[in-house]
Amino acid sequence: MSPPPRVIALDGPSGSGKSTVARAVARALGLAYVDTGATYRAATLAVLRAGLPPTESPAVTRAVRSADISLSVDPDAPSVRLDGRDVTAEIRGSEVTAAVSAVSAVPAVRATLVDLQRSLAAGGAVLEGRDIGTVVFPDAPVKVFLDADPAVRAARRAGDVDSGVDTTGDVVEAVAADLARRDRLDSSRVTSPLQAASDAVHLDSSALSAAEVVARVLDLAADAGFARVPA
Ligand code: DC
Repeated sequence: MSPPPRVIALDGPSGSGKSTVARAVARALGLAYVDTGATYRAATLAVLRAGLPPTESPAVTRAVRSADISLSVDPDAPSVRLDGRDVTAEIRGSEVTAAVSAVSAVPAVRATLVDLQRSLAAGGAVLEGRDIGTVVFPDAPVKVFLDADPAVRAARRAGDVDSGVDTTGDVVEAVAADLARRDRLDSSRVTSPLQAASDAVHLDSSALSAAEVVARVLDLAADAGFARVPA
């Protein structure tokens, strides 16, 4: 039997706080940080750049297979390149965000990107996503499903979109509607839906600070034998 991968799986919906937590945990344990959502976003940008509708088709599969997607897995400086160009900011734009759930529902796209995600994590990693504990690394020694109230998630995402906005107003409502739309699509797709692994530890970050969630995940990691890097 092969040893378990040196992997921490952090799944959950948008705005649950995964990125902040995953980066801090990776830093504390000296592991790579793999943002799997960024691979789906880069693939979606490749599809849009090819002028294709974001639905299942042989052309979409070809566009994603031939795209050169690379990630920096440094938790202090994560970045994404598509065909040699830095697209770290562009993949967070509204065009990609509107199309990413549709592209990530295509099974052949998922198969291609899961291969990439596994190779990025080969030396040990914290991976954040939707299907890490169920599909990408079902034998991960630490699995966390992070969630939060929809209203809290929307307020956090609105802050990400444009910091300094009035987080009680229309912006939050628009973000909440978009999150609800993506939650619905991501949870109802046939292939690898957003779903907690049966052996994942559930954490609700609604009333916890990021530091508190990080401390909980680091406790689980210590129990599983992960060592902290000296500060
Ligand atoms: O985490 P994010 O919002 O950047 O993810 C963008 C989209 O990618 C999200 O709507 C669903 C999809 N995704 C996925 O299907 N599987 C993953 N492991 C990560 C993200």
